[in-house]
Amino acid sequence: MDGLARLEYRGYDSAGVAVLGDGALHTEKRAGKLANLREALEKRPINGDGAGIGHTRWATHGAPNDVNAHPHVDDERRVAVVHNGIIENFATLRLELEEKGCKFVSDTDTEVTAHLLALEVAEHGDLAAAMRSVCKRLEGAFTLVATSVADPGLVVAARRNSPLVVGLGEGENFLASDVAAFIAHTREAVELGQDQVVELRADSVTVTDYDGAPVEVNEYHVDWDVSAAEKGGFDYFMLKEIVEQPRAVADTLLGRVSADGRLSLDEMRLSPADLRSVEKIVIIACGTSFHAGLIAKYAIEHWCRVPCEVEVASEFRYRDPILDQQTLVIAISQSGESMDTLMAVRYAREQRARVLAICNVNGSTIPRESDGVLYTHAGPEVGVAATKTFLTQLAACYLVGLYLAQVRGLKFGDEINTVIAQLAAMPEQVERVLGTVEPVRELARSLAGADTVLFLGRHVGYPVALEGALKLKELAYMHAEAFAAGELKHGPIALIEDGLPVVIVVPSPKGRSVLHDKVVSNIQEVRARGARTIVIAEEGDESVRPYSDVLIEIPAVPTLLQPIVSTIPMQVFACELALAKGNDVDRPRNLAKSVTVE
Ligand code: M6R
Repeated sequence: MDGLARLEYRGYDSAGVAVLGDGALHTEKRAGKLANLREALEKRPINGDGAGIGHTRWATHGAPNDVNAHPHVDDERRVAVVHNGIIENFATLRLELEEKGCKFVSDTDTEVTAHLLALEVAEHGDLAAAMRSVCKRLEGAFTLVATSVADPGLVVAARRNSPLVVGLGEGENFLASDVAAFIAHTREAVELGQDQVVELRADSVTVTDYDGAPVEVNEYHVDWDVSAAEKGGFDYFMLKEIVEQPRAVADTLLGRVSADGRLSLDEMRLSPADLRSVEKIVIIACGTSFHAGLIAKYAIEHWCRVPCEVEVASEFRYRDPILDQQTLVIAISQSGESMDTLMAVRYAREQRARVLAICNVNGSTIPRESDGVLYTHAGPEVGVAATKTFLTQLAACYLVGLYLAQVRGLKFGDEINTVIAQLAAMPEQVERVLGTVEPVRELARSLAGADTVLFLGRHVGYPVALEGALKLKELAYMHAEAFAAGELKHGPIALIEDGLPVVIVVPSPKGRSVLHDKVVSNIQEVRARGARTIVIAEEGDESVRPYSDVLIEIPAVPTLLQPIVSTIPMQVFACELALAKGNDVDRPRNLAKSVTVE
């Protein structure tokens, strides 16, 4: 149950367990949060002494109710199975199984696997062989974990396009979709590869491919411990993760500048020659990671003079993008498991583009399938809303941009060193912002009754506005929209009415003054039409004061780096407003932390 609690961020609309004991499968399943299952188990404890499996679900097929919750069992209750992903050919398989007399009780795609496994076990008596044979019949994405009364000390699992990690303990072993589930027991892990089956007993782990051939596995040590995955005195993970941002950014920058002051990103696995031949960059990502990509474009094009496109990963492969060996695709993904991004990565590699992943989870699928990787070192992020990982993605993107400029000889060493020094000062600036957000909290509480909030920004402030709106949507379930400030007069300004809160991100007046002055005009435009202006501007920027109903000051930093500080009030605002509405900010409704379906 503790393991499931640590995985609850991946899906939390229902949960269930199956444990073997006395030659039978004992199951309990409940719709809603894990607490419901816990309560049911307290009332009716399971007394199994064999292997056990459990699951927290994010519904794809079938409503989130008790029946559709996992584990699923066959008619005879001889096999139990839990599943992540989508089995695309489940309808055909279900028809075939029903013709054979199998009785289905749920609306899920998963249930077919319980019946298929049971039929195979009945025929061959071996759960691992059954799993290999069943997997060959399945289309789509899946991690399957199964137990059978035929062998109560055994758990068998398989994966295709969905994560699965083995935890290696002493006299005990674990399986989970994320190391967080077993980190309290072991920090030694094995990441399963594509199309592999694992047989797990308390004292052995055997990995094969779908044909039963043994597979070499890579063990690795997890470099964070259980305390990093716990709330540490905060009521919510999100609150803790916001506060962890200075450390997360510092850790991401750490060790990436060599003694001679040059950036050294050898771990990226892309050679300087590879990077010199790049003629175009395409960034692909989803959600918050996409916003990091939008900001990266400004920095990369400015520092490297290489054209850079940014695209939502789920759209990328459907529009026939122009890619070749001279294209560098940068895939940004916190989890390294977002299916939309993974599919875009695969497509890009098929078109012979080189792919660099920016990722927070060591050994996850996207970096493993990319040509190179730059890890962010944010530590585990449990809250569904991305916070510290966004800031570290920005830091990583800046590093990639500067490194490209360095290897391509586009900037003098001292120019690069200046930006590196400015980046190195960012953790301290982030700390300063965190020390001044109390008024933002008060403001958020005062707006808990608002229906709509608009966000405006220009240049790198525009993706920050998008991120602010996304945070508010996903946490506070409010209508929130972001616009490029200049686009306002082309339509959205019609939305402005008396008292409508509009958050505006103002660029530094010391950078390009034209940019700054244009945004100040935009503030006046919305205020003249009755908006309540909430202005995020640099300390000492007096020009905005007369037009700000609320002024939120952030430290003066270079224009391109401003998103690292201007995003923080947005995060705090959304989090506090959601809390004021009584929402669970760690587990907002309908969402999952890693979206492993397309
Ligand atoms: O793990 P990824 O970075 O690939 O996830 C992408 C998005 O699903 C993610 O950023 C999502 O938008 C967050 N919940 C936003 O807070």
